[in-house]
Amino acid sequence: YKKLACCFGILCVILVLAMFGENATLTQQNQNLTTELDQVKKINQELQTEKKNLTEQVESMKKTWNEQNVSQAQWIIDEYCPKSINTDKKRQCASCQKGWLHYQSSCYVVNNEAELKNQKTWEEAREDCRGKSSDLTVVGNEEEKVKTDEVNFWVDKNINGYWIGLRAEGGRWKWINGSDLTNQAWIPQQQATDGRCVTSLQNREWKSVSCTDKNAWICEKKALSI
Ligand SMILES: *[C@@H]1O[C@H](CO)[C@@H](O)[C@H](O)[C@H]1NC(C)=O
Ligand SMILES: *[C@@H]1O[C@H](CO)[C@@H](O)[C@H](O)[C@H]1NC(C)=O
Ligand SMILES: *[C@@H]1O[C@H](CO)[C@@H](O)[C@H](O)[C@H]1NC(C)=O
Ligand SMILES: *[C@@H]1O[C@H](CO)[C@@H](O)[C@H](O)[C@H]1NC(C)=O
Ligand SMILES: *[C@@H]1O[C@H](CO)[C@@H](O)[C@H](O)[C@H]1NC(C)=O
Repeated sequence: YKKLACCFGILCVILVLAMFGENATLTQQNQNLTTELDQVKKINQELQTEKKNLTEQVESMKKTWNEQNVSQAQWIIDEYCPKSINTDKKRQCASCQKGWLHYQSSCYVVNNEAELKNQKTWEEAREDCRGKSSDLTVVGNEEEKVKTDEVNFWVDKNINGYWIGLRAEGGRWKWINGSDLTNQAWIPQQQATDGRCVTSLQNREWKSVSCTDKNAWICEKKALSI
């Protein structure tokens, strides 16, 4: 019996030790989980703050966006529907902005830059047109060609030509909208050598000149259908 009791006692001790061991592991796990929970809470709080911050930013961007839309809409109204000079203040809308010439389905602005320092290279002229939500003019038919050469009504001696949206690309005359020049007779006997761009001028053929020359220029944009 003594031996048996002894064995039993040892077993008890082992069990108790095992239990303590198990408890220690559990406590450790518990501590670990508590730490993790704290970390998750902290991250959650940071995310909440970030979300609030982003929401505020989105709201403020929406506000600016709206204000910009309103001022842009106002600008378009003022450009296309200027208030009449008469006292009745009625607005009169047109297909083209004030200062632009309406012809067929396009609006044109002829940049009569007589001062040499204000004249532009072909690229610079194109930039200027783009700034006016337009591009250098593209001529689609004979009538438009006649009109393009005609609008140069105010020919100053300092103006040697007006840039149009035609330039040599890969040995061909190409419009800036990607189309080939359909009527070769418009620019007779002039090789489409890269680096050459085309100018129009009243009472003369279109002329191929270096794209880095300085000239006046004509911009074109679609007319509004009013
Ligand atoms: C296990 O640990 C808890 C606290 O961490 C303690 O209250 C309990 O008495 C322990 N149990 C044993 C059997 O040691
Ligand atoms: C508690 O975390 C430590 C490191 O942070 C790790 O070494 C240990 O194994 C973890 N204990 C449990 C029971 O998960
Ligand atoms: C909240 O946004 C502002 C800018 O609007 C920024 O300066 C700040 O650092 C942001 N705060 C947090 C916690 O992201
Ligand atoms: C602002 O205008 C753009 C188009 O120009 C439109 O897509 C957008 O929905 C407008 N935004 C608001 C807030 O009206
Ligand atoms: C380029 O413009 C001309 C004249 O407006 C037009 O006839 C032609 O179809 C246009 N090409 C492309 C690819 O839009």
